[in-house]
Amino acid sequence: MSYEIEVTLAENKKTKPNANELAFGTCFTDHMFMMDYTLEAGWHHPRIVPYAPISLDPAAVVFHYGQAVFEGMKAYRTKEDKILLFRPEKNMERLNLSNERLSIPPVDETFLVEAIKKLVSIEKDWVPADEGTSLYIRPFIIATEPYLGVRPAHTYTFIVILSPVGAYYAEGINPVSIYVENNYVRAVKGGTGHTKTSGNYAASFKAQEEAQKQGCAQVLWLDGVEKTYIEEVGSMNVFFKVNGEVWTPALNGSILAGVTRDSVIQLLEEWNIPVKEKRISIEELYAAYTEGTLEEAFGTGTAAVISPIGNLKWNDKNLVINGGESGSLSMKIYDTICGIQTGEKEDPFGWTV
Ligand code: COI
Repeated sequence: MSYEIEVTLAENKKTKPNANELAFGTCFTDHMFMMDYTLEAGWHHPRIVPYAPISLDPAAVVFHYGQAVFEGMKAYRTKEDKILLFRPEKNMERLNLSNERLSIPPVDETFLVEAIKKLVSIEKDWVPADEGTSLYIRPFIIATEPYLGVRPAHTYTFIVILSPVGAYYAEGINPVSIYVENNYVRAVKGGTGHTKTSGNYAASFKAQEEAQKQGCAQVLWLDGVEKTYIEEVGSMNVFFKVNGEVWTPALNGSILAGVTRDSVIQLLEEWNIPVKEKRISIEELYAAYTEGTLEEAFGTGTAAVISPIGNLKWNDKNLVINGGESGSLSMKIYDTICGIQTGEKEDPFGWTV
């Protein structure tokens, strides 16, 4: 493929939103990156073009069989006005993992990191500077071939769009209420839970609606077989601090390997805080709660970074964690990761580029 990225700049620029009014994923920048795949040419024609609706055949495979994958990453503005990306190579690596599972042809990870850097640098004025804000980067691939037979498509489009964002949850870094989901399941081993494919998210909406009816922001997902072992929280990985140790569900084939999850584990190891990746049953967690050793709980993800859990509703029980307040370890991790991401704190791991 030609690595020359063709650039067509937008004639009219949009008005940028006020930093204090930024929500999550409602506003998009002036340009996007695109490239196409055909069996004959492979991935080709990388280009940056004005942000605009795209036109697809109604028979495109993505509409019928959901052959689609995506990623989520962020760009941050430092005090010195530099723009930083956080571990972008990890997202491109995971995109190929998702591609492999969804029978989508692999992409060139190194080239795409460069393409994203180029897009972000063209859009650098869109990277907000206020605390808690960033430019969310959404790379995604859709199967575009018009075909109703059930097999992987022969044509695809890869797109990257950008969105200046504020906090993901309205609660921000304040604790959220979580509903332990006993009925719906998110994923099973052998399925697609370890990938970022659109269908995983569509299938989670019903449980999220139920959780909201119970006054909770999100669900705690249990495993799909025994409905006993904790997997994820909402669309995030989950961590618990129990008696000075930190536990997170081990990657078992149905859990997404979050970039923030990996960063939190590395930080805890650096701080000599014992961290265990293990199977955690809801009963084991409840036992820790009744013994008074469940000290903190939080979700981790690119969108919210860290989201403390204030209480867990499980059947008729309500487990209030750390008096419903954000715990000190959750806050320390949040401050450290955000500090590294925005260049305010030293980056001993070499995570930012
Ligand atoms: C994240 O936590 O980054 C997510 O996966 C949520 C995203 C799909 C908006």
